[in-house]
Amino acid sequence: MSFETIFVIGLGYIGLPTAVAFAARQKKVIGVDVNQHAVDTINQGKIHIVEPDLDKTVKTAVEAGYLKAFTTPQRADAFLIAVPTPFKDDHQPDLSYVMAAAESIAPLLKKGDLIILESTSPTGATEQIAQRLAAMRSDLTFPQQQGENSDIDIAYCPERVLPGKVMVELIKNDRVIDGMTMKSSQRASELYRIFLTG
Ligand SMILES: NC(=O)c1ccc[n+]([C@@H]2O[C@H](COP(=O)([O-])OP(=O)(O)OC[C@H]3O[C@@H](n4cnc5c(N)ncnc54)[C@H](O)[C@@H]3O)[C@@H](O)[C@H]2O)c1
Repeated sequence: MSFETIFVIGLGYIGLPTAVAFAARQKKVIGVDVNQHAVDTINQGKIHIVEPDLDKTVKTAVEAGYLKAFTTPQRADAFLIAVPTPFKDDHQPDLSYVMAAAESIAPLLKKGDLIILESTSPTGATEQIAQRLAAMRSDLTFPQQQGENSDIDIAYCPERVLPGKVMVELIKNDRVIDGMTMKSSQRASELYRIFLTG
């Protein structure tokens, strides 16, 4: 199944450049952030963060109608999660943003959708997302239940760009993609091929 609409949740230093990388390839991109200021700024074709060359790419994408930002999730074919994963006081990773993002997309999922976790996450985070989504959507099947025949594909693809060079590294860096199934890996790879030369 092809990716007509791509959804990116978390429009910060990773999510916004990723969203415009797809939009620059004429893909319809829905960006979602809980920060109303970020959403309003992006929809004006401007940026709320500092990253070289990001401003003109966002302006072009918004003016051409390929990127639109929202504060609430919308339907799509591929869902990328790029929210923060800070450390808690006890040095344990805080996955609450990732789980909140996953829960917010759960009601919108349909058969054939692909979910990718881009946030830097500890081992097992992708499975945690999959378990939570399965608990919320018993009408769909997930990789841990149906393997290669699952309705939903899920993969982990951590972002490794260097701040200040994101717009170049995002396109040119090699990526590590680990799907919960081979089909998930292949579909995630197909998605990134839209803009990736690495
Ligand atoms: N910034 C970097 O250079 C860099 C490099 C590699 C990896 N990463 C990783 O990428 C991930 C994202 O980092 P970042 O730097 O883009 O963070 P960021 O703080 O710049 O952006 C995250 C955005 O997510 C939004 N958000 C939080 N919870 C949300 C929710 N439930 N729904 C919708 N939006 C939500 C925030 O409002 C914020 O705009 C982290 O895991 C980070 O470790 C960052």
